[in-house]
Amino acid sequence: MKARPWTALLHCILVSGLIVEAIEPVSTSLLLGTGAAMLGRKIYRYLYETCDENWVNFNATGLKYDLDTKLYGQHVAAQVILKAVTGFMKNENPKKPLVLSLHGWTGTGKNFVSQLIAENIYEKGMSSSFVHLFTATAHFPHEMHINTYKSQLQNWVKGNVTICPRSMFIFDEMDKMHPGLIDSIKPYLDFYESLDGVSYRQAIFIFLSNAGGENIVQVALDFWRDGREREEMQLKDLETALSLSVFNNRNSGFWHTGLIDKNLVDFFVPFLPLEYKHIVQCGLSEMVSKGHVPDKEVVEMMAHDLNYFPKEERVFSMQGCKVIPSRLDFYV
Ligand SMILES: Nc1ncnc2c1ncn2[C@@H]1O[C@H](COP(=O)(O)OP(=O)(O)OP(=O)(O)O)[C@@H](O)[C@H]1O
Ligand SMILES: [Mg+2]
Repeated sequence: MKARPWTALLHCILVSGLIVEAIEPVSTSLLLGTGAAMLGRKIYRYLYETCDENWVNFNATGLKYDLDTKLYGQHVAAQVILKAVTGFMKNENPKKPLVLSLHGWTGTGKNFVSQLIAENIYEKGMSSSFVHLFTATAHFPHEMHINTYKSQLQNWVKGNVTICPRSMFIFDEMDKMHPGLIDSIKPYLDFYESLDGVSYRQAIFIFLSNAGGENIVQVALDFWRDGREREEMQLKDLETALSLSVFNNRNSGFWHTGLIDKNLVDFFVPFLPLEYKHIVQCGLSEMVSKGHVPDKEVVEMMAHDLNYFPKEERVFSMQGCKVIPSRLDFYV
């Protein structure tokens, strides 16, 4: 969170008090009363998160900077996300909420990117009361309670968008979510002006899943085996792989939901499997965030000991950058 200008505020109180005292007593108390009310409102806004530009304010440059410098090895995802989010946030009259579906191998940055988006829209980032994270296995674990979950989820989304139209809903483990539950939020993702008097058009929905991850890996591996640069890979090279595994697969949760044939998802974002060099980058930044001086030798030792696949070529990290925070502790 940015530092608040408390000293400036205190200075204001003192100066306005002195000026008011110099005027006659009746108007002084009147002025003081109004002043105090205004000040009270101002302080309240400083202390408590409200759904206005003090707390909800999109920073396009910040998002670009974060995607460029903090996210490693995801040039396709970074580009799609920047365009999608910036375009949506700058549009004063979007026709539907923004719906992103992030796909890829474990530990490649799907939750991390959601966090970067949240941090560049909400002053409080992921801790904002306007950002809601649902994890299928934690929040909706029992299939027999599906009807309760449906109405709870609908009420939650509706209630929160009523409080703040610029709300963000992240659904993790989307591939483990009951299709009926996904269906229950479908109306909110659509092109309606409003539903029961609530407009969802300013809201952002992000779905995270490993669905399609293996096909994305196959494309990346083919590139590598052909001796082509990873950065040459484009969205169109990966789209077919994604659609084959996610959209045309009758076993995938997505297929059953009708999210796809109704075109409710604006962008399917592929996350590439990470290579040794990205693991080193993650390790170095993890050292910094733990307060250590970044040491390449230490990080390389840790990166070397991790598992890579395919077995013979050892190209991609099995767990991505996910295990680094705990692994690094053994090496520093
Ligand atoms: N591409 C990346 N660039 C920089 N850091 C990354 C990247 N991928 C992962 N990380 C780091 O690893 C941590 C774990 O990654 P994250 O939770 O985003 O993975 P995920 O893709 O959501 O995996 P899963 O599919 O298992 O949920 C992140 O918090 C971040 O610190
Ligand atoms: Mg995740």
